[in-house]
Formats: sequence, structure tokens, C-alpha cells
Amino acid sequence: MFELSAEGKTAVKKELARYEAKESAIIPSLYIAQKENKGWINAEVIQHLSQVMDIPESRINEVFKFYTMFNQKEVGKYHVQVCTNISCALNGGRELANHLCKELDVHFDEVSKDGRFTVSRVECLGSCGTAPMMQVNEQYFENLTPESAMNTLRAMK
Ligand code: FES
Repeated sequence: MFELSAEGKTAVKKELARYEAKESAIIPSLYIAQKENKGWINAEVIQHLSQVMDIPESRINEVFKFYTMFNQKEVGKYHVQVCTNISCALNGGRELANHLCKELDVHFDEVSKDGRFTVSRVECLGSCGTAPMMQVNEQYFENLTPESAMNTLRAMK
């Protein structure tokens, strides 16, 4: 059964106090919960948030299912999101994403056998001038080549 830590609950309450309409706190609270649930969100997490926030599960689910930054499936310790939108695609983003899957021996959106990596293709992450790029957890890596991206990932413990 998922439960937020004491710090997590305090952080959610702080978000609730910040807004006039408590629904406005759903996105930041989903971020908090996702972080505490190893990078993804399931029905138990939604149920718990619903109790803590006193918002119906259906309202939280609407937000959760709409935004792609919330993961509906388990992810590896490092969630590698490779942008394959126009600027990145023109600069090798799709090939980069395929290369990472091959090197890490994992299919898109699945967890590698060692539990460390999930590679996903995502839409524009707002870093088009430094394409191709990837986001790993909360950090951006830009102007990548297949080699530099793999070196970055190999250095992650
Ligand atoms: S197209 Fe890749 S960051 Fe915008």
C-alpha cells in the first residue's frame, strides 16, 4: 500500500495551501508522489493522494492521464527521455533513441534487465537549439552524439 512520507505529506499540504482552488495542486502533488514511488504512478498512489488532498480520484486521474511527464508504467532508476520531435529528429534524435535501446539491450518504455534504464521517445522538451537532446530524470543533456549519450549513461551509477 503506497503512502507518502511525512515530508511528502507536508509538501503536498504546502501545495494545497498555495492555491485558491485545490485542484491547482494536483500537478505538483503528482510530481511529489511519483518521486516517492520510484518514478511512476499507479492506482494506489492516486487513491492515497485523493485521501490526502480530499479531491476525488477521478479528478486526479484526469490530470495524471493527460500529462506525459507522469509515468503510467514502472521505469528504471534512470528514465532516459529522448526527444524525437522535429529539431531533434533532423539532427539524429530518432537514431539516437534507437542506438540507446540497442546498447542498453532494452525495448522502448521497458525496464532494462538490471533495473537501471528505461528509454522513452518524447515530444519537444524545449531545447531545440541544442538538438539532439535527452532528459535523464531531472537533468538535460544536449548536443548529443550516440557516443556522448552512452558515455553519460555509463557514468551513472
Ligand atoms: S525538438 Fe527536441 S527539444 Fe525541441
